[in-house]
Amino acid sequence: MFIPEEKISEILHAADIVDIVSESVILKKSGQNYFGLCPFHSEKTPSFSVNPGKQIFHCFGCGAGGNSLSFVMKYHGLAFPEAAKMLARKYNITVDTRHLDPAVKKHQDLKETLFRINRKVMAHYHQHLHKDPAGQAARQYLDHRHITPAVMEEFHLGFALDQWDDVVGFLKKARVSRKAAENSGLVLPRKTGSGFYDRFRNRIMFPIFDINMQVAGFGGRVMDDAMPKYMNSPETPVYSKTRILYGLHAAKTHCRTTGIVHIVEGYFDFLTLYQHGITNTVATLGTALTPEHVRILKGYAPAMILVFDSDAAGIAAAKRSIKTFVNEGVETRILILPKGEDPDTFVMKNGAAAFQKLAETARSVMAFLREVAIEAHGMSVSGRAKVLADMVPYLGDIHDSALRSLHVRDLAETLGIDETAVLEKVKQQVVQGRHPRDTVSDTHPADPERSSDPRERQLLSLMLHSPDIIGQVRDSGVLDHFYSERLCRIGRIMVQADPDPDFFVTRVMGGMASDEDRELVAALAMSGGVDDNDSLPAAAAAVIQRIIRIRRKNDSRLTAKIKQAEKSCDTDLMELLRLKQQELRQIYNGQ
Ligand code: UTP
Ligand code: MN
Repeated sequence: MFIPEEKISEILHAADIVDIVSESVILKKSGQNYFGLCPFHSEKTPSFSVNPGKQIFHCFGCGAGGNSLSFVMKYHGLAFPEAAKMLARKYNITVDTRHLDPAVKKHQDLKETLFRINRKVMAHYHQHLHKDPAGQAARQYLDHRHITPAVMEEFHLGFALDQWDDVVGFLKKARVSRKAAENSGLVLPRKTGSGFYDRFRNRIMFPIFDINMQVAGFGGRVMDDAMPKYMNSPETPVYSKTRILYGLHAAKTHCRTTGIVHIVEGYFDFLTLYQHGITNTVATLGTALTPEHVRILKGYAPAMILVFDSDAAGIAAAKRSIKTFVNEGVETRILILPKGEDPDTFVMKNGAAAFQKLAETARSVMAFLREVAIEAHGMSVSGRAKVLADMVPYLGDIHDSALRSLHVRDLAETLGIDETAVLEKVKQQVVQGRHPRDTVSDTHPADPERSSDPRERQLLSLMLHSPDIIGQVRDSGVLDHFYSERLCRIGRIMVQADPDPDFFVTRVMGGMASDEDRELVAALAMSGGVDDNDSLPAAAAAVIQRIIRIRRKNDSRLTAKIKQAEKSCDTDLMELLRLKQQELRQIYNGQ
């Protein structure tokens, strides 16, 4: 794995961390930093911060941190070179990848090949829709469903011919390898003999774009009652149905501006709403909404409206996903359409304004479930007891205790039950071990440095804040006196780095050998700022002296005792002291 140092630094100079993070997280400025909800763990209050000056991000909740490159890697699940290439592409920087690790390069090439194949095949299907005589039926079908030509173009709709080898032949002609063709999921190997056949036949084709407008996969609908009605691409290296949301590439800016996203279930639901100006919409495709979907979406809108065409589907989905929503801190409401309608038919019949009006009446997930329970059990004495029993598990699942108590009060009021009685039931539920902790951010991953001499961290923080003191640190030799091997290692990399304050933190991060070390650097860079730069050298000198003094004192005390034990031939004591010395080092090194 090798991308030249200069390239990385060119990419990091071109990329702006606030820009990059803003694409996936809603950020608000506060002082020098920006804050938002962490995309890497569940939280309700923002502990994810971005510092434009240092070009880094850090989450005070889960400890995630790094620079633009690490953000892209972590958020999109990419390997380093892939992330570098993605950013490079974005900022028009060319990267020579000849020297990449062969396995990484192979995977990356495959992904690029698949995106290329998909784009070509998308154009091929699109041509059929417009030019092929057989496409006539498909055009009629789309007309009959009132999809406008503009939407057909914008979403590159197409048509797969009723043939077994149209795409097979097309890929062959385009000299696509058998392996790549099979990996794309567009063709399947024949069960008997050799060769492939087309997966999608005689279907209206919907290309599925990822957030970067790359064609990740396809969905296809039959034009009659044949089964299955819809077929989607299988999981491929570029298509994962638990992550992808149909239409997000087009909806994202609208979600940002309105702060709301409508989540529907189908292709036509999405297209119809979009066509009617309800552009802040996405569709899940043949799968329930996953926590990953929710995390991605909350980067675009803090409020979500789940739109369902039936009570049954709505109830099932609400029950399934209530934990995810509540714990991701998103305000989620459920909109149930009138019987027999789905978003597509409702808007076609009643128009966008009627839909918007209905959407305003959407109830919160918790209120929705409560009403469902009341409807089922009634408000008699025994009915209310059953409603309470139904609701307790949901209340118990709310990690945030403040939020939980609000919902408890709400339910108690609705049912006319004493609040403490409700609370008691919920507590029992919580104690039963169903949910052991209050919020994720309360539990820090074990961090050995936290227990070591705090001055070692402090000194590294100071260096990250102001590389001017690096000379001072180097000359004092204080790093040799660090108890923590890890902090010492990081300190040495800092001392060797180019001390130019522009991009210093990012440069230091680039030198880290592991993600954990990079995250630690981000944490150190975010903590313990100094108010007054003039007094910095003096502050640094004090910290340096103190570290050295304490280390010397501890060491000499132990050495003296060991010597004394040697003198008196007390081997047991000698052994004990040696162990102690070792132990001390180990504690600080954190194994
Ligand atoms: P629906 O069956 O509710 O259909 O499936 P729909 O979206 O209203 O479709 P139209 O209006 O009849 O064209 C909802 C979604 O579930 C997925 C598709 O993404 C579909 O849009 N689905 C459905 C499948 O993946 N496979 C199927 O066989 C059916
Ligand atoms: Mn429909």
